This record gives sequence, C-alpha cells and structure tokens, in this order.
Amino acid sequence: MELNRRTVIASAAAAGLAATTLGGTAEATPAGSSKGRKPVKELFGTLADGTKVHRWSLENGGTRLKVLSYGGIVQSLEIPDRRGRYANVSAGFDNLDDYVASSPYFGALIGRYGNRIGKGQFTLDGKSYQLSVNDGDNSLHGGAKGFDKRVWDVEPFTDSSGVGLHLHYTSVDGEMGYPGTLKVKVTYTLTRHGDWIIDYEATTDKATVVNLTSHVYWNLGGEGSGTIEDHELQIAATRYTPTDSGLIPTGELAKVAGTPFDFRHSKPIGRDIRAGHEQQVMAKGFDHNWVLDKGITAKPEHAATLRDPSSGRSLKIATNEPGLQFYSGNFLDGTLTGTSGRVYRQGDALCLETQHFPDAPNHPSFPSTVLRPGQVYRTRTVHTFGS
Ligand code: BGC
Repeated sequence: MELNRRTVIASAAAAGLAATTLGGTAEATPAGSSKGRKPVKELFGTLADGTKVHRWSLENGGTRLKVLSYGGIVQSLEIPDRRGRYANVSAGFDNLDDYVASSPYFGALIGRYGNRIGKGQFTLDGKSYQLSVNDGDNSLHGGAKGFDKRVWDVEPFTDSSGVGLHLHYTSVDGEMGYPGTLKVKVTYTLTRHGDWIIDYEATTDKATVVNLTSHVYWNLGGEGSGTIEDHELQIAATRYTPTDSGLIPTGELAKVAGTPFDFRHSKPIGRDIRAGHEQQVMAKGFDHNWVLDKGITAKPEHAATLRDPSSGRSLKIATNEPGLQFYSGNFLDGTLTGTSGRVYRQGDALCLETQHFPDAPNHPSFPSTVLRPGQVYRTRTVHTFGS
C-alpha cells in the first residue's frame, strides 16, 4: 500500500462471520488496526452436486480480500480512496449461482492456459493434442471447464510474509485435452503493506503446456460505478501481438508507436479506444497481449500502472511474466448484474492479465510455455495499491 493509507480500518473478518448461503455481505465493522487478521471462512453457496463453496475473508495493511474456493475467485477486493473511503474494485457477483451460470471469468484463476490456443490444437514432442474448444474454433482460458470452474482446496496461513491462502488443485491427465497430471498451487498473500501477491506453482508428470493467470476485472472507482475509460493506464511495452479475427496472434510483434496501442506513457483508456484501428475493430476495443519490454525476469518487475483520477486509487503491477493481456471489458453487454446490484456495460471494468503470450504452443518464436516432468513452473505477480 502506498500513500495515505489509513491505519484505522474496518474489519472484514470481524465478528465471527456467520455461515450463510448466497454470499451474505452483512459484516460488523469495528475500528481495527492495519495488522493482518487470520483468514475467516464462511459458507458462500452449494453447487448442484452438493459441494459446498466457501468464502475466505482476509485483511492486511488496509487491503481486504474475499476469495471463493470455487475458481479461486476474488469475489471482492476493497481498498480506500484518497479520503480513506473503501470500495470493492473488482467486478463480480454476490451469489454463487451467477458465478456458475454466467461469469465471464470474473476474478477467477485461469488455467491450464490463459487466453487462446488456436483451434484448440498443438503439437508437443511430435504428438498432437486436441483441447476443449469453447470460443468459436478456439480454446479459451483452459476450455469448457477450466480452473475457474473447479473447486480448490484452500488452506489459510499467517506468517512473516503476511496473511494468505494456499489454493490447491490437481488437474488429471487429459483434462480438457491437456497431457499430464498437473499439480497446481496458487498462493494469495496480503502483505503488511497491503500488496496482493499471487504465486503460481505447478508440476507435471508428462510434458505439457501451462500458462496460469488471474482474471480480476478492475474498476478503481468501485465495481458498478460506470466506465473505466477515464482510468489512466501505462504499460511498459514497445510491442504487442496483433491478432486475427478470432483473436489468435498472427505471430508478429508489432510496434505500438503511432498506434492506439501505445501506452508507454500513461494516458486515459478512452482517449484512443474509438480510433478505429483494424485491430481494435476486431476486438471491439483493447483485447491484446502487450510484449513487456523487460521480458521474462527472475523477479517481478514493473509491467503496468492503472490510476483512477477521480478516486485517486491506483494499482501497480509487477511480474516476472513476459506478457500482459489488457482487455477493456468489451464483451460486457448490460446483461450481468454485479455485486452491488448494478448492471455491467461495455467498458465498466478491465483486466490486466500477466502471462506468457496467447497461442504460444503454436508459435515457436514466442517464449515457451512447455513444462516437463522434474521442472517446477513458478511465476509471481505483485499488485501494489495506492491512493
Ligand atoms: C480475453 C477476452 C475474453 C475475456 C473473457 C480475456 O482474457 O482476452 O477475449 O473475452 O477474457 O471474459
């Protein structure tokens, strides 16, 4: 957490949250300290097969996070504005049924492969694989039942790094067409500074491809508060990956200079969103992978800064991944009612997904997403909030 962080904050986890279905949001809010609080678990809902889905509430350094065991979904992420007023800056729903029925990956963990694989096909070590196809001809975000729709085992922790959750999921060999049993561990940590860190870890017993990410839809004015077109965005990237009409990269690493894709210096998202560049017309806005200038790094390095001038809230993203998918909420169409009861329309939230490039398994020139037995997949993304 950067500037102006209040030390007197309300506790999301206070007063022994009563078990409730359908995401009851009633909470006591006594004044507390900015010290971390042990994650608190409550029932959020029950899936059709009887599986119970829990919601974990945690708080540290002034950031409040609520996470579902279903999809590892960030159901709420609250941070203060420049006057200390909290808002949930992550779009989502207040009940499990909507997540199951109609979520465009709100807040979810994405796997095995973030973004698209063309025709859901790839070849690895001479063997061809056919994945679950769920986006026209292509496979998107892991296929029809990706990690966003799986129930994760959640284990809370409090240690010197902060308070957090370990989320475990084992994806069986052949699930959604992917080879190898993939054991995945994702750790969400809230640090004492209020940063939210995601650590992804995976191992496999057969050669496979992996590209894990998080699909939080940000609106720093608060979810349901309207458009993100006034948000200012900076992305540390000189190039991006243009796509075909199915949003599969052509393989070119095109320069952003002189195009609406130039976010090297912070600018309002709305400034060039209607420029009519053919790449924007195909994607109905921004929905592309930016090639981060820093490349793959051993430690997380700066990727992007998002700022909402009216609330003063800001978000900095650092990662060791080489790419960032900026999606300007183009397919939100006024049919979904969000957490606080307001409808989401086009551009009411945006995603900044740290990742390897889409369709990398079919582009030998892109950084490799292959994971082999004996190797450990490890990536980290750090979200730093300010106001
Ligand atoms: C993709 C969009 C897609 C969205 C799903 C984003 O990561 O880039 O094309 O529509 O996820 O809601």
